Amino acid sequence: MTNLNILKMATIGIFDSGSGGLSVYREIVKLLPDQKYIYYSDNANCPYGEKESDFVCRRSHEITDFLLGKGADIIVIACNTATGASIASLRKDYSNKFIGMEPAVKPAALATNTGVIGVLATAGTLSGAKYLLNKEKYEDNIRIVESIGKGWVELVENGNLTGPEAEATVRASLLPLMDAGADNIVLGCTHYPFLRETIQKITGPDIRIIDPAPAVARQLVKVMIKEGLLPDTEEAVLEGKSNVGTPKNPDIQLISSGDIQALERIFKII
Ligand code: DGL
Repeated sequence: MTNLNILKMATIGIFDSGSGGLSVYREIVKLLPDQKYIYYSDNANCPYGEKESDFVCRRSHEITDFLLGKGADIIVIACNTATGASIASLRKDYSNKFIGMEPAVKPAALATNTGVIGVLATAGTLSGAKYLLNKEKYEDNIRIVESIGKGWVELVENGNLTGPEAEATVRASLLPLMDAGADNIVLGCTHYPFLRETIQKITGPDIRIIDPAPAVARQLVKVMIKEGLLPDTEEAVLEGKSNVGTPKNPDIQLISSGDIQALERIFKII
């Protein structure tokens, strides 16, 4: 017998403080080109990185209400800072599933040859209990060096991804990690992958840059299958699909609490 719930197209709600979460969306939509998307950028309150975690948690609840009101079946918190500040409380207060982000310390720790890894993230993420607990697991065996990508979120929101200003800003936060001998650098903020070209220009090809978005997209598919939001045949094709590009006409609604142009600018390049 056909299960009608499984055939219904799911609506995936995604939010971030700004355009950064599009680095997660672009990986999700490669795997799930036929679903419906609502993307919320809290640009009016961006950046989240230096804000009180109570404020970020409150905004995460308000945005969740908004996305659920628009029909979202599942929510991707495409923001490390908001995940750290709010995922436990969101999971307590709502019955739908949440997929969150966290700095990918594990793959970096497993791959390092120098025994030093770098984590780039916001101040909020680096001081959050969730991150501190996670990194504790690895610190006996490797050294973890951290740096805040100072001014990086603003570069992305302004569409300033390459060129002398972007390079100078990126270099200032990267150098401490390079000087410490990090051979694997984790991008622990969803805005940072949009600066990848500039980052890699400064580090050179021998330092590995880790963006957790593809793994998060695969995790979303697994959870959606489990929740009956996708047919279970979907998992078998995951690997093949992750190699294709962004579909031409995805069903996505872009919403911003502030400057929608900032969001549209990044959307155009993904
Ligand atoms: N993109 C976000 C993150 O992953 C937030 C950056 C910010 O607003 O400071 O942490």
